[in-house]
Amino acid sequence: MDSRDLVRSVRMVGSANGLRTLRSAWRRQRTDGRDLPRRGAERARVPGPAQGVEPLPGGGVVRFTRSSLRVRVAVGGAVFCGWDGAEPEPSYALAGECPAVDTRVELESDRNGDGWRVVSERVTVLVSRHGAVEFRTPGGVLLRRDLPPRWWDPAGREPGDRTRWVQRSETAADACVFGLGGRASGPRLREGSYRLWNTDPGGSFGPGDDPLYITMPVQMVVADASCHLVFHDNTWDGRVTLRDGEEGAGSGHDRPGGCELRVDGGPLRYWVLTGSPARILAGWTALTGRPALPPRWALGYQHSRWGFGDEQEVRRVAAGFRERGLPLSALHLDIDHYDGHRVFTVDRERFPDLPGLAAELRRDGVRTVSIVDPAVKAEPGNPVYDSGTAAGAFVRDARGQEVRGVVWPGEAVFPDFTDARARKWWGTLYAERLAQGFAGVWHDMNEPVSFAAFGEPTLPRSARHALEGRGGDHREAHNVYGLTMARAGYEALRELEPDTRPFLFSRSGWAGMQRYGGTWSGDVTTGWSGLRASLSLVIGLGLCGVPYSGPDVGGFTGTPSPELYLRWFQLGAFLPFFRTHSAITAGRREPWEFGPRVEEHAAAALRERQRLLPYFDTLAHVARRTGAPYVRPLWWNDPEDRKLRGCGDAFLLGDALLVAPVLERGSVTRAIRLPRGRWYDTATGTAYEGPGQILLDAPLGRIPVLARAGAVLPVTGEDGTVELEVWAPVAGRTGGGIVFTDEGDGWAAPLVERFTTRLADGQVVVERDGEDEVGHRVRVRGLPE
Ligand code: GLC
Repeated sequence: MDSRDLVRSVRMVGSANGLRTLRSAWRRQRTDGRDLPRRGAERARVPGPAQGVEPLPGGGVVRFTRSSLRVRVAVGGAVFCGWDGAEPEPSYALAGECPAVDTRVELESDRNGDGWRVVSERVTVLVSRHGAVEFRTPGGVLLRRDLPPRWWDPAGREPGDRTRWVQRSETAADACVFGLGGRASGPRLREGSYRLWNTDPGGSFGPGDDPLYITMPVQMVVADASCHLVFHDNTWDGRVTLRDGEEGAGSGHDRPGGCELRVDGGPLRYWVLTGSPARILAGWTALTGRPALPPRWALGYQHSRWGFGDEQEVRRVAAGFRERGLPLSALHLDIDHYDGHRVFTVDRERFPDLPGLAAELRRDGVRTVSIVDPAVKAEPGNPVYDSGTAAGAFVRDARGQEVRGVVWPGEAVFPDFTDARARKWWGTLYAERLAQGFAGVWHDMNEPVSFAAFGEPTLPRSARHALEGRGGDHREAHNVYGLTMARAGYEALRELEPDTRPFLFSRSGWAGMQRYGGTWSGDVTTGWSGLRASLSLVIGLGLCGVPYSGPDVGGFTGTPSPELYLRWFQLGAFLPFFRTHSAITAGRREPWEFGPRVEEHAAAALRERQRLLPYFDTLAHVARRTGAPYVRPLWWNDPEDRKLRGCGDAFLLGDALLVAPVLERGSVTRAIRLPRGRWYDTATGTAYEGPGQILLDAPLGRIPVLARAGAVLPVTGEDGTVELEVWAPVAGRTGGGIVFTDEGDGWAAPLVERFTTRLADGQVVVERDGEDEVGHRVRVRGLPE
């Protein structure tokens, strides 16, 4: 063990648990030493020359001497490539049925006889005689070239799960890469290496820490020619190495962007989607599932703390918000409300009547949300342990022994969520949380974490998993542990309360997790760098199909300066998941803890959030219907604007707003790069023309927010009804917006209204579905006084 490991383990678990984590780490090492198949001699393999093709619906199969490639274009234009017989299913990412093939598409010989081509509406796929695969726009511009892959098969065996592989790819010289799950150093992922292995960084993290809790082999590649998303559907440990391209590099030639993906096992199969960012997200969430719709209260401000301590303190905090007139939507209870950190229990001494407390808070409009950790204290007599053992629900090693680790309650076992029976059993336990009055769940520690004094803080790689009956080990199951736990929780909540939208967010996850809920930053470090990292995570995850997320506002650790707290709060107010939270050893995060000035400004941010709630409702429905995230990078509608691609310090909130948080200490101005079109500073009404850079005031009391000319923004009016804030369109151009309204919970179809705006004789005309009758009070802004 090196000293960094030691420091990390002490930071993570305190010295009391130190011995246990040492033992657990040794145990893990021993188990793997004994049970993990050894990487003996290996034989390298490339596809070799092509031997023939077999046209099939949607594409076909190209046979090479040592492998084969299936190309299959689905309805909607997503292209699947599977090497070595890999099929799209089974897959943890896909939402259900694999999309039907586009039968109009076929594999044909390339005119020059160099290989084969699959021509579809949106993309042309070219397969060379040696197994390189190119994706080109219908006009022939290259988006991506995947060079022939290389495998390392265990000697003397057929290719199988234990086959490692590497694939190198080239993209356009101007390409920028985003995604790969939640990354702290983005949103644009610079040249470097990014691991695909969900990891609790321990303690806290900042921009330099990688990987984090959610990794996904999902890359959004943005280039002049077009954008594309590539998803390698493989859950094994891997590494993506990116290299920036360069235009006119050597002797005037472009050097392409480079990507190398190395994976330790599992199938070599991937999907490519092309088009505008909006099209891609629509296609991606059609494939992997549309984002769950949160209940309206989950779009309001929420507060949390590890260590509220007891009922009195929870009451005191709630009263603090109430008495100051600060709107609060939910309070979250962390592991300290459990009995001895045992999941699905309550410390009855400190929380004698949780259902009573929940009902009391609920009367004031405050929901309670419960943390749920997967690790179960391994202790006969603990009903969760006993029933899980009876259900055969816990992960075992190759010899059939329960795998033990160490988490908050001490010695613990881990449900195998890749087993449908274990998911069912686990789901029954949520009835207890509902009986305690909780309205939502917060899944934590599900990378999964097992504290370790050295080595990786997770389960042994040799631990066995059901993998839906196929059987396998933790190397394959690790990255989908959080995803399958979310599935268990979501399905249980749907069943237990069929008329209510589940509210679930999960620290770890994988491609497709949006089907079950959202996520949050995890333990982001308290500092200006942590503030930046939080925005990077939200933007990046949105591009991977996970639109509902947000940071621990104020940071997880330590005590932020009043200024930092306020700036974080002001950013949080514009993010989908808006929650203050901190560690038990950290300072408090209630707005009044930072002095009257901060309280006043935080109150203004809260009021603005309340006012924008109808807009957030709309954004939630838009995400549900189209996959478009609430928080979008500035280049969302202008991917060809290269200057915007590098901007990670501002974002679009839906179609209407551009938000520019203050991310630097002492700053009271903000340089903002505008996408094309006219934008109004919402504070002053001044109009600016994009593209270009502007400088706006950002006094302590607010961060700059701009509105797009022509936008229709649904807001809460003074009488509580939905009003339309309409920003004057540019003369001769129309604007508009779509507004969804619903009950805020349940499944009734929302009311959908489409508005258009135009300028006529210097006046703004608003129409609903082509009619003059708008049905809402309208407030026009942006016209000269
Ligand atoms: C993890 C979570 C954090 C939580 C803590 C105690 O560190 O990320 O949010 O407060 O565990 O449960």
